[in-house]
Amino acid sequence: PAIRPLLAGNWKMNGTASALATLEAIAAGIAHLPDVFDTLLCTPATLVHRAASAAKATRIQIGGQDCHTGQVGAHTGDVSADMLADCGARFVIVGHSERRADHAETDDLVCRKARAAIASGLTAIVCIGETGAEKAQGKTLAVVERQLLKSVPDSATPRNVVVAYEPVWAIGTGLTPTVKDVAEVHRFMRDQLSARFGSECAGMRLLYGGSVKGANAHELMGIDHVDGALVGGASLKAEDFLSIARAFP
Ligand code: G3H
Repeated sequence: PAIRPLLAGNWKMNGTASALATLEAIAAGIAHLPDVFDTLLCTPATLVHRAASAAKATRIQIGGQDCHTGQVGAHTGDVSADMLADCGARFVIVGHSERRADHAETDDLVCRKARAAIASGLTAIVCIGETGAEKAQGKTLAVVERQLLKSVPDSATPRNVVVAYEPVWAIGTGLTPTVKDVAEVHRFMRDQLSARFGSECAGMRLLYGGSVKGANAHELMGIDHVDGALVGGASLKAEDFLSIARAFP
């Protein structure tokens, strides 16, 4: 069966109560589009509960942006996957490049976070991608191979893991890789995952992220093995996000 695409927004550290109006506007717009893809908004942890309530009876699902490796304990300021699930989240992003950079998160830590997410019944969106320097050195596939192998847990299935390829240099810059480059990386990821997980991985969703907007969404989403998008800046305004949604099948 064909893979059902996923359009995911990542609000990052943006949004207070007034952002719920954006969610409602997105939900209203999505309701008019063919029900052939899933839509997710990963809100700040502080909004997950209210967002999940507001999204009930809509096509929007809610996710968090990070979780701890454990579920309870003396970890001041941290949020566990169980807590996100309790608030109504269905997904959680782990290993976003901003967390890898700001909090020195390693592949091993990201893998343990993904396992915690799965244990809580969430789908982990595992983010990987090379930096501009790594790309310049021709290391893109080597970086992707290492991050895939080390950040995606052995217990991954198409139901509990989504992989997001986000070249770090494309995030928030307006730059995107060429269609040929995205196609090469996504084909490579599919091959790597198939070699590791066999036919089990066939339906695993592989998202592209990094400066996705209405103007490039159709082209990017048309690439083989691109099963959706992880959208940052353009998920903050309903009109922008909906212009991407309209590019979905
Ligand atoms: O998680 C989302 C990505 O970091 C992409 O962000 O769409 O603002 O480039 P962006």
